[in-house]
Amino acid sequence: MTTYAISGAARGIGLELTQQLLARGDRVIGLCRQTSNALTKSGADVIEGVDVTSDDSMQHIGELISHSSDRKPIDVLVNNAGILSRENLDNLDFDAMRRQFDVNSLGPLRLTTTLLPYLASNARVAIITSRMGSIADNGSGGYYGYRASKTAVNSIAMSLARDLESRGIAVGLLHPGMVATDMTSHNGIPVAESAAGLIQRLDELSLENTGTWWHANGEVLPW
Ligand SMILES: NC(=O)c1ccc[n+]([C@@H]2O[C@H](COP(=O)([O-])OP(=O)(O)OC[C@H]3O[C@@H](n4cnc5c(N)ncnc54)[C@H](OP(=O)(O)O)[C@@H]3O)[C@@H](O)[C@H]2O)c1
Repeated sequence: MTTYAISGAARGIGLELTQQLLARGDRVIGLCRQTSNALTKSGADVIEGVDVTSDDSMQHIGELISHSSDRKPIDVLVNNAGILSRENLDNLDFDAMRRQFDVNSLGPLRLTTTLLPYLASNARVAIITSRMGSIADNGSGGYYGYRASKTAVNSIAMSLARDLESRGIAVGLLHPGMVATDMTSHNGIPVAESAAGLIQRLDELSLENTGTWWHANGEVLPW
């Protein structure tokens, strides 16, 4: 049985990943700010109060994780929590942009470094980024905060991949596709389809391919 820790597990892609992994017999530690009925009922070990922007929250999470049941190390950490706001040139909101950097770029770094002591020696770390963070693929502009925050987390993930390789830890970047969740006002592919692809990518993540950026469908994406 593989132990996963997933941030933003109460809804959307994080919840679906949790449910699919539990259904195949894995263990999931569902990290969230506040649980949902679906997460509570899922059978995951739920840890509430995990805000990826909060240093206080990070300080306490180690203790919470170590009390979270059988204290087995985490085999796979999925940094999934994220936010999107829609700035364009005529409507720039620098506070919203800062907030996206805090959640989308710094959040995965905060959570990963916090949980490092609890990761298995051959663990895998995934960051759910977005194709909107690809500079090469930016054909339509806009979304200043979201795009840049995902570009930044791609860079952070590559540094993590380099820094954690010697510890036997692989790091991958995953784009879920355009998925029907609250974030997209439920436009896009079914969340079940996206999560199934993401799980395949997580299964394939290894030290041989660490630092790669995949679409959930297996395509390698351009930076
Ligand atoms: N949906 C898409 O088409 C799409 C496309 C590309 C990338 N993504 C990425 O996929 C990931 C999941 O998105 P989604 O579509 O599932 O969005 P969602 O339905 O809006 O869910 C976002 C999740 O992130 C959590 N979250 C937000 N801010 C947080 C914080 N400060 N600390 C901890 N958790 C926080 C939310 O928790 P609360 O319930 O507490 O708010 C929620 O569980 C995000 O990183 C997103 O950027 C999504």
